[in-house]
Amino acid sequence: MIDIPSIQPWDTSESFCNDLPTQFQPQLGKILVTGASGYIGGRLVPELLNRGYKVRVMVRTVFPEYSSLWPSAEIVVADALKIDTLRAALEGVDTAYYLIHSLRLGPKKFEQADIDAAGNFRRAAEEKQVKRIIYLGGLGDIRSSLSSHLQNRAEVAVQLKYGKTPVTVLRAAIIVGSGSASYEIIQHLVKSLRIIFIPRWARNRCQPIAVRDVIKYLVGVLEVPETSGRSFDIGGKDVLTYEEMLKILAQLRQKKVLFVFTPLSNIRLYAYFASLLTPVPDAITACLIEGLKNEVICQDTAIRKFLPFEPLSYREAIVRAMSREEQDKVYTRWSDAYYPAYELMLKLHELKGKPAYTTTYAIATQKDASRIFKSICEIGGREGWFHSNWLWRLRGGIDRLFLGVGSARGRRSYSTLKVNDVIDFWRIESIEENKRLLLRAEMRLPGRAWLEFNIRQESGDKNLIVTAHYDTKSFFGRAYWYLCLPLHHFIFHNLIKEIEKRS
Ligand SMILES: NC(=O)c1ccc[n+]([C@@H]2O[C@H](COP(=O)([O-])OP(=O)(O)OC[C@H]3O[C@@H](n4cnc5c(N)ncnc54)[C@H](OP(=O)(O)O)[C@@H]3O)[C@@H](O)[C@H]2O)c1
Repeated sequence: MIDIPSIQPWDTSESFCNDLPTQFQPQLGKILVTGASGYIGGRLVPELLNRGYKVRVMVRTVFPEYSSLWPSAEIVVADALKIDTLRAALEGVDTAYYLIHSLRLGPKKFEQADIDAAGNFRRAAEEKQVKRIIYLGGLGDIRSSLSSHLQNRAEVAVQLKYGKTPVTVLRAAIIVGSGSASYEIIQHLVKSLRIIFIPRWARNRCQPIAVRDVIKYLVGVLEVPETSGRSFDIGGKDVLTYEEMLKILAQLRQKKVLFVFTPLSNIRLYAYFASLLTPVPDAITACLIEGLKNEVICQDTAIRKFLPFEPLSYREAIVRAMSREEQDKVYTRWSDAYYPAYELMLKLHELKGKPAYTTTYAIATQKDASRIFKSICEIGGREGWFHSNWLWRLRGGIDRLFLGVGSARGRRSYSTLKVNDVIDFWRIESIEENKRLLLRAEMRLPGRAWLEFNIRQESGDKNLIVTAHYDTKSFFGRAYWYLCLPLHHFIFHNLIKEIEKRS
């Protein structure tokens, strides 16, 4: 039964921390979670709330869904690059989780942004006399030549520790969980390839950790005051090469893949192909794959003394991630974090004036609005676009070649949708149940585009309407619109016919 649109309720019986060997600390005051719109932060907030903590969630953009997702949390808007906003966010805070990361700015821009953000945070935390910061960073031996990403994670820890506020640093390698970027990269490589070429660096070792164990450590250190001001390596049960990780996943998926060693080891080239074959965009794959040249293994096991639980093996973590996907219970995904100054963030209603071009296709229907809306909400991802799927896939493929997001991002969930979720190369801008779904294009375009679905009752007739909005100022942009127009006519007409048929 598809239940669209709604927020996927967080099921407390599935809490990762139910078997944590520590207890709620009632003396702790307000807990601030930064990076709450991200993959880790989004999973940490409900766990803290569930344990009874007073949580303040820091985000750069507020979406109406947040108050349904975290009903008892206080929500504050702040940008770590603007120290004044941080001061307000940190007012009266006891402990702050630092989960801010700007990876999606891409290899050239994220480093400085992350260092500046950490410096501001440390200063504001000190001013506001925050008792403790808890930071989740990356594993990697700082004495070796680390990838720029891992180096940056270590530098952020140093930045935070400059101040007087004690910092607990947790250092993790690859995090495996439904919706994590690393898991989706590995999974899609195995799914889409019959032969995988293994360069020398794929035989480096890594200690992957399940997302549930990461959350347990994050909550656990909060509840053990002795961990304040200390750094800990956290990892799963296994130390594996990247080749072994791919092989285990192939085995679990029962997919026959031939692994062939190759002397060709250009890491940038691999990152480019990985971004073509997986839903994760180039800005992220480039940084993550560059990190594979480093061995990322826990150097010490001190954390076990304070939090003596048995972390999951890689195999167990993968099986859990696969089963969450099967059950359609992916609570957060790498695509959730969304840079608000992102050039494609402009909303349709924020355009100055009307979009340059608009075309509308409509069909009359007798069907119930709720059934039509449910069908509309099923578009994209594995369901495809109901008609001429190959054309949608071709458009996604072209986008990927130009390092755009492509259509392989799919969807976080097949049974629920919320504002800001991605659907292939679109992002949901607005949902009005049984009335309207507005999608904003994130593929590479010489302009800005939106796709709007409406169900309207007009003088006795019910109509299903799809409208393509497009705004451009350039000559190339205009040429693109007119070139695509015949295709739009074909695609959108058939799309609404199919939606109506399925309703
Ligand atoms: N995910 C992994 O596999 C993994 C593995 C090892 C370690 N870690 C560490 O875990 C931490 C969290 O990672 P993640 O995967 O959750 O990252 P993520 O999904 O990319 O989320 C990053 C968060 O940072 C926020 N942010 C970025 N710049 C900001 C700014 N200037 N001001 C305020 N907020 C800002 C983003 O908010 P917007 O939505 O507004 O952009 C988003 O909420 C990072 O330190 C990372 O190194 C993660």
